[in-house]
Amino acid sequence: MMIDELPTPALLFERAPLEANLKAMADVLPGAKLRPHIKAHKCSELARRQVARGHETFCCATIREMEVMAASGLGEDLLLANEVVDARRLGVLSTGGARITVAVDSDDTVDAAAAGGVPEVLIDVNVGLPRCGCPPEDAGRLADRARRAGLEVRGVMGYEGHIVGLASREERESGCSESMEKLVAAHRDVGGDVISAGGTGTFDCNGWATESQAGSYALMDTAYAKLGLPFEQAVFVLATVVSVSATLAVAACGLESLGMDHGNPEVMGGKLWFCSDEHVTFAPSSPARVGDRIRIVPAHVDPTIAYHERAYLVEGETVVEEWPIDMRGWGPA
Ligand SMILES: Cc1ncc(COP(=O)(O)O)c(C=O)c1O
Repeated sequence: MMIDELPTPALLFERAPLEANLKAMADVLPGAKLRPHIKAHKCSELARRQVARGHETFCCATIREMEVMAASGLGEDLLLANEVVDARRLGVLSTGGARITVAVDSDDTVDAAAAGGVPEVLIDVNVGLPRCGCPPEDAGRLADRARRAGLEVRGVMGYEGHIVGLASREERESGCSESMEKLVAAHRDVGGDVISAGGTGTFDCNGWATESQAGSYALMDTAYAKLGLPFEQAVFVLATVVSVSATLAVAACGLESLGMDHGNPEVMGGKLWFCSDEHVTFAPSSPARVGDRIRIVPAHVDPTIAYHERAYLVEGETVVEEWPIDMRGWGPA
């Protein structure tokens, strides 16, 4: 099938840059040095490509992602890098033979892991991002509580999400160092083999983590493109021009197909004016016609992917495979 035959808006994964990104990352962080975060693509077929590059341990953000990974035979070592208050669906996965670890940052979430039948935990430490994570000085106490509850404490995690997107490498390096000082101190109190941290923006400057949780690197977005990382743009949204005026064109693809929390996407071959619910209004660089197909580069990959049911793997103008985005949503797999 050719790209022109696809119903739009269509999510495109371009094969060559995708494979180049997977290789570039595996060269720097081989095997278990990378625990790819699959929230960035939510696609078990893409996770298989990461396995083919030597990574067999994965991070997930939702219980559904954990379920689909396990059901896809990718349950070698799955970390839910988020807190949950009802861990029973995770306990079922563990009973089914997957290796399941969950992040905990409070008495409540430790107790939930134990009650739900999850055998292993990481103590999630706040390293500066105002999100989840216990204060570093509370990590040892939580680890003791978890061990008393019969849980295996594998170590710590601490996501420096406030650092990964900084444009200056120097600032990323110093911010990362500051954050990881907290995580390493917490790890001294917690013990275990694992120090899990990092994202795409710090993949090669976080020397403290035993494993990086980078995910966006596989597909990239315009926010990460600004950092000068060795990864290429591999995801696009294909849209059809439905209306043209003297200076502007409008494509049928808007907020319902694009994650916008990092700002506007970019239009290839034009300058974006604005996005509305189902439309992108742009000034084309050469005269546009109704029926033209344009490529839009998302500003934030993860939420963009979550809007689409499937991705088309393409090589130039040819569609070579169709991959379900099978980990989107929250319900049981
Ligand atoms: C806990 C955690 N780890 C890792 C990542 C991956 O980060 P990146 O998008 O920089 O690859 C995220 C992304 O939001 C995250 O929430």
